[in-house]
Amino acid sequence: MPLVSSTTMLQAARAGGYCISAFNVHTLEMLQAVVEAAEEQQSPLIIQSTMGRESDGLTITSISEREEVENMNVNDESSRQPGNEELRIGIVGCGVRASIAIFPALRNAPVDLVAVCDLDLSKAQYNARKYGARRYYQDAIEMMEKEDLQAILVIGPAKVHYQVAKEALQRGLHVWMEKPPGETREQAFELVRLAEKHRRQIQVGFMMRFATANQMAKEISQRPEFGGVKALYFRYMANPYPDHPAFYLYHCIHGFDLARHFMGEPDKVFAREATAAPGQFHQQASLSFVNGSIATLDMSCLQEWTSPNVRLEVTGVGKHVIVENSAEITYYRNAPIRPSHARDQAHFVEAVARLDDSQDALTWQPNQNWATLYSYRGYEDELNAFASAILSGNEASANIEDGYIAMKLLAAVEQSAQTGKEVSFADFEVGDR
Ligand SMILES: NC(=O)c1ccc[n+]([C@@H]2O[C@H](COP(=O)([O-])OP(=O)(O)OC[C@H]3O[C@@H](n4cnc5c(N)ncnc54)[C@H](O)[C@@H]3O)[C@@H](O)[C@H]2O)c1
Repeated sequence: MPLVSSTTMLQAARAGGYCISAFNVHTLEMLQAVVEAAEEQQSPLIIQSTMGRESDGLTITSISEREEVENMNVNDESSRQPGNEELRIGIVGCGVRASIAIFPALRNAPVDLVAVCDLDLSKAQYNARKYGARRYYQDAIEMMEKEDLQAILVIGPAKVHYQVAKEALQRGLHVWMEKPPGETREQAFELVRLAEKHRRQIQVGFMMRFATANQMAKEISQRPEFGGVKALYFRYMANPYPDHPAFYLYHCIHGFDLARHFMGEPDKVFAREATAAPGQFHQQASLSFVNGSIATLDMSCLQEWTSPNVRLEVTGVGKHVIVENSAEITYYRNAPIRPSHARDQAHFVEAVARLDDSQDALTWQPNQNWATLYSYRGYEDELNAFASAILSGNEASANIEDGYIAMKLLAAVEQSAQTGKEVSFADFEVGDR
């Protein structure tokens, strides 16, 4: 059966006065059945399906089918048709985090995964096969030299984010990196400068900005009715951590970025910690911002991951919004007071029994089904945003400047906790900013 474009088929059908059957196929058996039937009937046929992953619609029912589909993804260049709208990327780091969160979250992003890399070649090989990259490498520079890439994603230790980003920028590549953007604010600042010099973008993986409920909170906080953001509370709890700098660098940094995302330029910082053992502490940081707003960050590695561990509360004027566990959002809008029905007055009874469209709280909870493609933790949306920004020439966010500011806040909070004194954010600049 020859393959022709649907335009050719439809033109012939119009001229010949007949119609053409179109089938959605979801299994290889269905595909076989409709092709055999069309051959038998000598009939043209249009087939629609997604030939990528099980969750995209093609149900794979046997091991041999699975192998067939996987081989198509990994080895057959003709099975991919990356258009101009796909960003050609390579990924450095195929460890736990990359494999659990980043590779799967790229599923619907406008990217063409060209190659992957890990110091441990078996991890690179596994992820290339699993996620359909064409080639895999052990050395990031070799991958950048040999492949025709537009951007690199780096998911490794902090030092590797810095090192690989430098190499990528010098080769004219854009960079998406996991947080933190280096081990120190000096490294982050160097990346700010290099990105400017090479006119390339770096997006830092502050995915909390992109969690659907947090995006909703941000949008609400910008409405005129909200009255401006006056205060923010952020809670983030984790298990006892091996060492103090690592918890700051790899976890608390999320809180610093999120506070800034809502409040703008920081001003003063005061922090203190209750310490259980070296590296195990509960920290409360109080930040003030140039616009007069304040934030309290309550971050700890004395609790546990497995309980609901994140809460965000943003306060405006007579209104506030709460995001629980990055998922459920409630917008409190100065609801009417509902007097007790014991008072037995007609107008009170009406207020008690009726929801007020304009003032009662609005709550949104994510629903787990195929039709609700929200970004619970923000991974999908942050990667989509990066690829879309680069492809369209728009500015990526959170960019490396945001990453640098988060690193400065981290240093300020750490120093305040150590000295017991309030510090000025401006004192933590590197170079001229
Ligand atoms: N945003 C989040 O929710 C979140 C959560 C967890 C981890 N992370 C981030 O993910 C990053 C990785 O964490 P992880 O738990 O996956 O660590 P990991 O150790 O499991 O993975 C890191 C991988 O990088 C590889 N690697 C190291 N140096 C390399 C190099 N020079 N070239 C190529 N590969 C190299 C290692 O072999 C390893 O496979 C960390 O920076 C962390 O901050 C983010």
